[in-house]
Amino acid sequence: MSWAIVPAAGKGTRFGGDVPKQYLVVDGLPILAHTLHALLSHPGVRGVVVALSADDAHWPGWHEMDGKPVLACVGGESRADSVLAALEALPAEVRVDDFVLVHDAARPNLHHDDLTALLERGRNDPVGAILAAPVRDTLKRAGDDGGIDGTEPRERLWRALTPQLFRRLQLTRALESARDAGVAVTDEAMAMERQGMRPLLVEGDDDNFKITTPGDLVRFQYLVSLRLQEGQRR
Ligand code: CTP
Ligand code: MG
Repeated sequence: MSWAIVPAAGKGTRFGGDVPKQYLVVDGLPILAHTLHALLSHPGVRGVVVALSADDAHWPGWHEMDGKPVLACVGGESRADSVLAALEALPAEVRVDDFVLVHDAARPNLHHDDLTALLERGRNDPVGAILAAPVRDTLKRAGDDGGIDGTEPRERLWRALTPQLFRRLQLTRALESARDAGVAVTDEAMAMERQGMRPLLVEGDDDNFKITTPGDLVRFQYLVSLRLQEGQRR
């Protein structure tokens, strides 16, 4: 079983509003609870460490969910800083070469099958792995004037999702190295790539999307309502 880290210290500036997006309620539960349940209900996950903003006024103080431990720590200025803080807050039972999952608080629609595939394939890779989805749209490069300079080939291009699975110490070293070099990494894989490592891409479902704007929240509400209707029909 692996521990998971959930960076949840963001302010949700693109989403807007008074309540940070990870605390908006869908079907009676905050987004963060949906996300934690998606992880903790999986038999491959041992527990989670959640990184919270220092002035978080909404954290319900969970210590346990699905019968598994939920730990909290204070995150940092950037997502990478929050992940580093959570890596430090992992319990001592997590050894330096154990694999650890990192999953965005704002990605509540993670499916069990995708997590299973990531854990199985990532643990068999020397470096680790990330869930990702192939780019499906045609990609345009914009000029300064907003006109199209050209069309980019989309073969071999993937969108990085989470969870991402890496060994505790290697990931810590990679994130520290990026921080010390002043390089802003936007996911864990990018920090590992800087170290010359090549994480594995594991194709995951497109609907493991990140809630970034109000439209994304509507999409998640719709998916949850479909799931409820299906449950009632059974
Ligand atoms: N995150 C974090 N610590 C930060 C910034 C972000 O733990 N200093 C977390 C967010 O809470 C989120 C995940 O990283 O779960 C992905 O970040 P993003 O979607 O960008 O969320 P926000 O940073 O909150 O949103 P925005 O960029 O629009 O402000
Ligand atoms: Mg952000």
